[in-house]
Amino acid sequence: MNQPETLASLQASVHAPAQVTHVRLLAWVREIASLTQPDSIYWCDGSQDEYDRLCGELVKAGTFKKLNDAKRPNSYLAWSDPTDVARVEDRTFICCEKKEDAGPTNNWMAPADMRKTLTPLFTGSMRGRTMYVVPFSMGPLGSPIAHIGVELSDSPYVAVNMKIMTRMGKGALDVLGDSGEFVPCVHTVGAPILSGVKDVAWPCNKTKYIVHYPESREIWSYGSGYGGNALLGKKCFALRIASTMGKRDGWLAEHMLILGVTNPEGKKYHVAAAFPSACGKTNFAMLIPPKGFEGWKVTTIGDDIAWIKPAKDGRLYAINPEAGYFGVAPGTNEQSNANCMASLNRDVIFTNVALTDDGDVWWEGMTKVAPAHLIDWQGKDWTPQIAKETGAKAAHPNARFTVAAINNPALDDAWDDPKGVAIDAFIFGGRRATTVPLVTEARDWVEGVYMAATMGTETTAAQAGAQGVVRRDPFAMLPFAGYNMADYFAHWLSLGDKLEKSGAKLPKIFTVNWFRKDADGKFVWPGFGDNMRVMAWMLERIEGKLGGSEHAFGTTPSYADLNWNGLAFTEAQFQSVVSNDCDAWKAEMKLHDELFAQLEQGLPKALLETKAKIEARLDS
Ligand code: GTP
Ligand code: SPV
Ligand code: MN
Repeated sequence: MNQPETLASLQASVHAPAQVTHVRLLAWVREIASLTQPDSIYWCDGSQDEYDRLCGELVKAGTFKKLNDAKRPNSYLAWSDPTDVARVEDRTFICCEKKEDAGPTNNWMAPADMRKTLTPLFTGSMRGRTMYVVPFSMGPLGSPIAHIGVELSDSPYVAVNMKIMTRMGKGALDVLGDSGEFVPCVHTVGAPILSGVKDVAWPCNKTKYIVHYPESREIWSYGSGYGGNALLGKKCFALRIASTMGKRDGWLAEHMLILGVTNPEGKKYHVAAAFPSACGKTNFAMLIPPKGFEGWKVTTIGDDIAWIKPAKDGRLYAINPEAGYFGVAPGTNEQSNANCMASLNRDVIFTNVALTDDGDVWWEGMTKVAPAHLIDWQGKDWTPQIAKETGAKAAHPNARFTVAAINNPALDDAWDDPKGVAIDAFIFGGRRATTVPLVTEARDWVEGVYMAATMGTETTAAQAGAQGVVRRDPFAMLPFAGYNMADYFAHWLSLGDKLEKSGAKLPKIFTVNWFRKDADGKFVWPGFGDNMRVMAWMLERIEGKLGGSEHAFGTTPSYADLNWNGLAFTEAQFQSVVSNDCDAWKAEMKLHDELFAQLEQGLPKALLETKAKIEARLDS
């Protein structure tokens, strides 16, 4: 008879340090290693030494260039394969047993069929590479709101990014102990190194699969090394898997920034805002109040994801499950976001921005005048003249930086607080050149849920595919809800209903649009720091201040309701960003119809009733 395997031999079989006593984890690592057949297995401890060493190896491999230490200490630049530059939504799957649980807005395949598809792809997929074991905590270590994941990846680029983006390494292993729960995440770039063949700087595969099994809480990602496709703690875990956990257990996992805003009297509010990808979350989270708002202060808790749970006091508390920012570089500059620029002074990984002749970085919009010569994100010579002639971008429009939250000079004191912060207002906002006004306050929770559910936005470079196409992006969660969108709406409604019945004061809900354009195609609203003017009005509304005018779907301020100190913005300009064109809204309602027809199964009645009320108001 076989002897039962000892812990020591199990550890030895996967080169685990003695600290790892979690038998299920060890056995899973061995199972994945025998499937993917890496040359070696390396357990990340999350230390600075390890980070520096892996970055050094990435430099040797040609994946990283070390930037000029005198200009940008301890920072690196990676250029991806030109075909691997953004999330691939059409290759992203929710694989639950029943198709209707994934809903019509997600790609679905039955788990057994997907496993049959993936097994041959993952077989031997890590040959010639090291498999990094990356334990991580989403949320403060040991927080009752946090959850642990372990990513197995053959990409050292992923390992070092995960060090910045999550609480990664030994601390997460300590929390796991010998039997803790974790979400298993398997990632391969899908490019085994065959003997005699030299590796490339950014290995990936034309075939891509970003797969979630919500019922067994697994993530399997194949073929991409970029962003949300590969850093599996982020969209895959903290949104798609976590949203299904939240639905079951009565909380919310949202594509939201979280900020603190303190008024000159010292009263502090907390705001969570959902804007679709590349629509301004990072910028809003780091907002610097403009002239005319002396004494106001905005502090960052999170810039992309919020986990929100109701507490005994009836309020909704939010934490940022991440520990860093994977933010859009183009458009970021001293004027638009000085806090972000300061965050990027050192210890940054840049991906797909341009390299300057003195070993620093540049991207479109960083400075008014572009450098005379650059190497663009594809490694080619770039000059303003070449750009003019060919349209070549120095940085890819979805070029990003990875930086630790602690680099942010506007970081909120409570950013790491396991309790989270109590939310006073939710904001939802898309990118719309027309139709949608600068700001609207919903009359109540249900109307707010309706406006969030039917939100439209123009697509950006954050997702592969055409840009600037208006699509419905409910709650900015279209690519991130891990279950049926109709059930997701119902979850929001029932949470509000429960809290209201408990006597709690619900957060107010607002919708915004910073992106209305004039006839010349220019943004009318100055945006960025000046968004403070809109936020200040929202806070007054929370305090019960009257004002504004009610229209078909809520309340929008009048010119006199906003503080214009320090900004020359005429009443006519204001009108052009707040006006509601009745015909445009009737056309918009048809698009709501399309969404509701698509989500017919299980769509909450309250939303149809709200729609009927809005239509009646538009007709009157
Ligand atoms: P993800 O990381 O993809 O989820 O994006 P995000 O929502 O954090 O977007 P981010 O703040 O990085 O902004 C994306 C782009 O929008 C950048 O190029 C910004 O310069 C631009 N942007 C942000 N806020 C504003 C604004 O208020 N007005 C205008 N016109 N542009 C803005
Ligand atoms: C987004 O696309 O919303 C992002 C970037 O925040 S990624 O991490 O690539 O998903
Ligand atoms: Mn995002």
